[in-house]
Amino acid sequence: MFMFLSTILIYGQEFHPGKLWPDNFGKHINAHGGGIIKYGNRYYWFGEDKDAKTTAALVGVNCYSSKNLKDWKYEGVALSVSDEPGNDIEKGCILERPKVIYNRKTHKFVMWFHLELKGQGYGAARAGVAVSDRVTGPYRFLRSSRVNAGKYPMDMTAEQIAELNRLDADKYKEWWTPEWNEAVKKGLFLKRDLAGGQMARDMTLFVDDDGKAYHIFSSEENMTLHIAELSDDYTSHTGKYVRVAAGGQNEAPAIMKHNGKYWMITSGCTGWAPNEARMFSSNSIWGPWKQHPSPCVGENAKKTFNGQSTYILPLPKKHTYIFMADEWRPSHPDDSRYLWLPIQFVDDVPVIEWKDSWKLKK
Ligand code: DGJ
Repeated sequence: MFMFLSTILIYGQEFHPGKLWPDNFGKHINAHGGGIIKYGNRYYWFGEDKDAKTTAALVGVNCYSSKNLKDWKYEGVALSVSDEPGNDIEKGCILERPKVIYNRKTHKFVMWFHLELKGQGYGAARAGVAVSDRVTGPYRFLRSSRVNAGKYPMDMTAEQIAELNRLDADKYKEWWTPEWNEAVKKGLFLKRDLAGGQMARDMTLFVDDDGKAYHIFSSEENMTLHIAELSDDYTSHTGKYVRVAAGGQNEAPAIMKHNGKYWMITSGCTGWAPNEARMFSSNSIWGPWKQHPSPCVGENAKKTFNGQSTYILPLPKKHTYIFMADEWRPSHPDDSRYLWLPIQFVDDVPVIEWKDSWKLKK
């Protein structure tokens, strides 16, 4: 009954990509770089609280709830930054792209996010994790660190590992040369970070049909994506991971599983400025991943309609998904906008078109 009610409520709702989106207090929703989970008969939207002037985190992660995906109630701060000097999530840190998943075994909600320690720019490149017994929080911060220390990726052959181990970093001090690029593909930064753990910046989470969860993030100086398996309780990494699009400079991963196939949409790396989306598909989460043209078509498609991917929300109706992107406004970060667009399929390949407004059809 609940499922049925919550399903019909979302149909007929009209979305206005790029426009201000007021919450129940009439304030523009403040949940950037976010993601959504459905729990019970409600959707919960988690995202970065953005300040009017700085892109650093002064508040933490906000949570909103909705039964129809259009009218959002502010549920408060799900994860607060800390006032304690030196705390990993000290106020003024950079806390981006939070995503929450529910663990059916532990009955806990688990939040992962990209964390940069206060005062260190984007140098720390850590993943942070927090848990809560209640979906809306408060989430308890567990720890932050780099990822998969001491582990080689599963998709590297013994030969490739031997080649990696022979890479001499001193030969590739100058960046962006063709030789450097080749070395990056072979794992120049992977080798550098092997002992201390791999860099983890822009990220998303994905729970597969079998309940296994994956952390997907930009690693190796944002040059290569990693897909890493999470432990059964979702709060740590198992050490199993693969590299995707080595040397391809992908950020902002968002993923869905459609008809048994995994589709991932990403962006290039141009800071807060939009660029052309990229798309990959694979029959297994572990790859091999194949690159396709951008799913975006029509006017301004080359700039992803001024947005950058953050999440793909699957809807109850089979084969229906919403592409969620952020239109960043770094000089007024809290005025950044949300671009939600329906994913269409042409020959079973995702296609995204701009729409000034659109409705979810039954
Ligand atoms: C692009 C990323 O996708 C954002 O989350 C943010 O880290 C900006 N870069 C910072 O320039």
